[in-house]
Amino acid sequence: MPTVLALETSCDESAAAIVSDRRVLASAVASQVEEHARWGGVVPEIASRRHVEALPLLIERVCAESGLSLSAVDAVAATVAPGLLGALLVASVTGRTLARLHNKPFLGVHHLEGHLCSVQLGEPLPAGPYLVLLVSGGHTELIRVDGPGQYRRLGRSHDDAAGEAFDKVARLLGLGYPGGPAIQAAAAAGNASRFELPKGRVSRPEGGFHPYDFSFSGLKTAMLRQVRALEGEASLPVADLAASFERVVAEVLVERSCRCAADQGLGTLVLVGGVAANRRLRQLLERRCGALGLQWRVAPLAYCTDNAAMIGVAAAERLAQGHCSPGDLGVAARLPLAEAEGLYQTPALF
Ligand code: KG4
Ligand code: ZN
Repeated sequence: MPTVLALETSCDESAAAIVSDRRVLASAVASQVEEHARWGGVVPEIASRRHVEALPLLIERVCAESGLSLSAVDAVAATVAPGLLGALLVASVTGRTLARLHNKPFLGVHHLEGHLCSVQLGEPLPAGPYLVLLVSGGHTELIRVDGPGQYRRLGRSHDDAAGEAFDKVARLLGLGYPGGPAIQAAAAAGNASRFELPKGRVSRPEGGFHPYDFSFSGLKTAMLRQVRALEGEASLPVADLAASFERVVAEVLVERSCRCAADQGLGTLVLVGGVAANRRLRQLLERRCGALGLQWRVAPLAYCTDNAAMIGVAAAERLAQGHCSPGDLGVAARLPLAEAEGLYQTPALF
């Protein structure tokens, strides 16, 4: 079982972890949320600087917690795509330097492959080919997984990612950043059936709709109109608005995922990514899958939002396949998951 030191700095969480196969020996995350909250979103320059400050301390912490020194790990891994370029560079340069210094293989990991692997940090593991609903701040995708590294995207958002929609609607309602947890908290006391909101669909040029694709821009506009229409009232019914929005997002995600799984003959649906932390979404997924006789798995709560343990699991899986990245591997702001294979060469260089 390979032991991997993994680093993650693709957006606004600095993270380090040491995993042995899919067991977490230590995991530490330093969130920059408070710093970015003042600006209502992530400021790339601030993110990079904070990663530079935080990462060395996080590495020290996971080494101390696991009782392992860097010379005792089998490989060093870092997220190299997709994400903010300056932010990605921090983990990538740190990881490649440590790998070189300690004469270990380096693995550059695709961030979405990390999210896909986060479900392996829980029990039991999803069996056979399965469908993953990956919902984060940057992505909303339905991905068929046939085995390690074997991914096929079957659905996607054509505009905002689900997490982005949560963040923007939270700002509209005057709630905090990040929007997901703020909307969830406000929605707890709300009436989720009070407002009718659209479940955005994406039309096909040849007619009809993409059955597994998503669009959240119409929903966002509908929320804006609703808020404007209510402006004359004594106070904005924030809880009811948040709950209605959260319900529609959860319904649209679960309905299209279940349909896709059924059409594909896949018996298991897996939920990962930051938005997978959403309580209503988790509960609805459980209910609908139960009713349809589908198996369902959700990434452990601690590993839904960005972390390095999931990057370590993805790297351990690649290492077990004999993969390793070139020492001069760069970073990329955008990279389709289907091209993750290009981050590796076989056999290992070291
Ligand atoms: O996976 P993640 O940490 O970063 C990306 O790779 O994007 O996801 C962050 C996103 C944010 O948009 C945040 O608002 C959302 O996940 N999020 C949630 C919840 N917790 C985080 N959305 C809904 N409900 C939550 N409880
Ligand atoms: Zn992420």
